Amino acid sequence: MGYAFTAGDVEFLQSPDGAAALAEVDGFALTTSTRLADIGRARTRFGSHVALLVETVLLRRKAAAKLPGTENWFFTDDALQQATPRAVAAHRATRLKDRHVHDVTCSIGAELDAVAGTAATVIGSDLDPVRLLMAQHNVPGAAVLRADALVPCTRGTVVLADPARRSGGRRTHDPAALEPPLPDLIDAYRGRDLAVKCAPGLDFDRLGWDGEVEVVSLDGGVREACLWSPGLSGAGVTRRASVLGSDGTAWTVTDAEDDDIPERAPGEWIIDPDGAVVRAGLVRHYAARHGLWQLDPRIAYLTGDSVPDGVRGFRILEQVKYSEKSLRQELARHDCGVAEILVRGVDVDPAVLRPKLKLRGSRSLSVVITRIGRAGVVFICASRP
Ligand SMILES: C[S@@+](CC[C@H](N)C(=O)[O-])C[C@H]1O[C@@H](n2cnc3c(N)ncnc32)[C@H](O)[C@@H]1O
Repeated sequence: MGYAFTAGDVEFLQSPDGAAALAEVDGFALTTSTRLADIGRARTRFGSHVALLVETVLLRRKAAAKLPGTENWFFTDDALQQATPRAVAAHRATRLKDRHVHDVTCSIGAELDAVAGTAATVIGSDLDPVRLLMAQHNVPGAAVLRADALVPCTRGTVVLADPARRSGGRRTHDPAALEPPLPDLIDAYRGRDLAVKCAPGLDFDRLGWDGEVEVVSLDGGVREACLWSPGLSGAGVTRRASVLGSDGTAWTVTDAEDDDIPERAPGEWIIDPDGAVVRAGLVRHYAARHGLWQLDPRIAYLTGDSVPDGVRGFRILEQVKYSEKSLRQELARHDCGVAEILVRGVDVDPAVLRPKLKLRGSRSLSVVITRIGRAGVVFICASRP
């Protein structure tokens, strides 16, 4: 939950006294072991302002990895958790270059700031007045106003939205349970250029979306899906996977590409495609692009005689029919002491299996357990980073 900031708090933080107090509190370590003493010292200096000062300093430190360059920003705990990571927002912003963009759920402005770097003009709006004050401070170049996203108040802009999960609510995949509800948002901007950030697990087919769905991962973790209306979609694209790295690397694959792949016996390597590719349903397209094929048409593991650049591959040393006993014997024969276990398409829990393998050797190996047709198979592999 965190500290409940008020408009008066934001005003104080922006004042010369507030800025000086923040600089002083930022000098405190505020670690688990020093926090009590630090807060005591801060209280004698800043009295009733202590909670908002400490919270702001801690949130700024917490934001450093997700939102680099925001050392002077204001946050609430919830707003920081909801904020789009910089690398993901910057990727979306490249698709909004030179457009006039209205972020209708701008919160404290994480997305707004990224878009401000590429768009011709940016407007941000939200229902929460405190977050809006923070957004105005955080993104001084943007026009910020209070408005309900379901009541369009700009014309001719690209509308960008990031509906929130209901506070206190369970993680839900129901589009109508978002705030604002996704179906209402889509209705409100029908016919307009619209980009909506959603949870990647959302049931897109239920929405009947007629544009592009882009699934985005960052550093190997699937972060979000973005719905792009037809006017903003790639030509002939209804599904796209975008794979981003914090080091600035980025590549995409779409369903407008060829998905013809051969049916063949396993090659030299197994490749576990990025989660964005799997979630977007583009495993075959990705395989076709890199000259790979599937171990089984219903399973997302790929195989081939080489590994695409920047992707982790598992070099097959041995393929055996899956049983605990045969796996234990094979791993002993390969002198395996540490096994990374990957499972797809079979009901095996690596945490339960591992102790049963009684590993005592000296090598680190990877074990891929899956099925080909109906048969459970296991590949004993050496992994390449
Ligand atoms: C997930 S956050 C957006 C985060 C933002 N994209 C960022 O990166 O910082 C969702 C925001 O939607 C706002 N919101 C919820 N319902 C709204 C509505 N009907 N109109 C405008 N804003 C709304 C909330 O106040 C919240 O700030």
